[in-house]
Amino acid sequence: MTDHGEPGVERPLSIEALPVGEDRDTAYARIRERGPVTRVTTGVAAVSRDTAEYVLRHPELFSSKRAYESAGSPVPMLPIAFDPPEHTRYRRLLQPHFSPRRIRAMEPEIRALAARLVGEVADAGRCDFVSSIAVPLPAQVFLTMFGLPLADRDRLIAWKDAILSSAPEFGAEAPSEAAATAARELFGYLVEHIAARRTESGGTDLLAVLLADTGDDRLTEHELLGMCFQFVLAGLDTVTDALSNAFAILATRPDLRRQLVDDPGIVPDAIEELLRIDGPILTLPRVAVEDVHLDGHRVTAGSAVHVAVAVADRDPAEHPEPDTIDFHRRQPHLAFGIGPHFCLGAHLARLEMKTVLEEWHRRIPTYELAEGVRPAALWPAGLVGVAGLPLVYPTEPRRQA
Ligand code: HEM
Repeated sequence: MTDHGEPGVERPLSIEALPVGEDRDTAYARIRERGPVTRVTTGVAAVSRDTAEYVLRHPELFSSKRAYESAGSPVPMLPIAFDPPEHTRYRRLLQPHFSPRRIRAMEPEIRALAARLVGEVADAGRCDFVSSIAVPLPAQVFLTMFGLPLADRDRLIAWKDAILSSAPEFGAEAPSEAAATAARELFGYLVEHIAARRTESGGTDLLAVLLADTGDDRLTEHELLGMCFQFVLAGLDTVTDALSNAFAILATRPDLRRQLVDDPGIVPDAIEELLRIDGPILTLPRVAVEDVHLDGHRVTAGSAVHVAVAVADRDPAEHPEPDTIDFHRRQPHLAFGIGPHFCLGAHLARLEMKTVLEEWHRRIPTYELAEGVRPAALWPAGLVGVAGLPLVYPTEPRRQA
């Protein structure tokens, strides 16, 4: 990255104060117009596609370990709270369990789950999409994947909510007492569960397979706990918010909805474009390892670098007409990150989104926001996702009439 010298005095931007909850077009444009890198109240933000990618691809300069080690988990989250070379070893161990082939094998089960959840609301003529579909689906997928009892779903969601709702944001101080308590309870639950599972043999879920590993390179108890923690925090709300944001757009855009109904074959491309335009992650955290210059800005060792992936995904140099939604765009985005920490669950997330989009539009092709509703995300928060999405639609007999 070239050093253009220290720019003149620039007032730090307060990302927390922007209208991210209600109007992301405006909020992201305000960040974008400050240039490829900008000072924010707690450090700097990498905003253009080039600078964002540079930071994420250089873990030797911008540490993930130092950014995530205080993220409210009693054990380091694995693999995100590690830098290469330790991180590389964990990825090598976990990657095969998330390969496209492994994830494809999960499709019948996830599709049946999506169809069941959609079926439960199809005849009601109205539902809150978030609580009926977007929250339970990823939670249930996680429980199945880890061989945990489905009856524990609501407990798990409550712990995760408590931890995430007060996660330190933009370099704020330590997590709240409520978050720390929830983290301890979730930790205790996982410890107990792993101990119980050790005494059982067999099982094909991910935890059973990792516990049965007797190789020299197997994960220790501590590492397995860090991994479970990471999956609870990385794999539930992200999918919930990605789905909720996608349906909030579709509910007000009959033209886009019709494209999905008329040609379900475009669903995979539509998912990529919906993630680009309104993915659940605004910034990814990193900490500078040494003094470094980033597009002319001096970043001192130990300071925070926020990689604004959602803004980089609207960089006009990369995406012409960046605020326009085009299901035929086919341009790579950063919603799943890039570089060594590229989302391990990306294939799974895509599959979860695909089955919901397909099953929903098969049963409920026409829907809109309930009267007077303007979906908004809570902000500031760790993720960007509309908090409630009341939808109304014709019930099945009327649809067939
Ligand atoms: C639409 C849903 C999702 C989105 C937008 C998303 C996004 C991301 C992003 C941006 C990162 C990179 C973080 C960074 O570099 O700091 C990441 C990492 C990760 N994600 Fe996802 N994610 C999603 C779903 C999932 C799911 C379903 C799982 C697992 C079941 C998962 C597991 C992980 C893991 C384990 C990492 C850490 C990878 C590493 O450090 O090497 N994610 N995700």
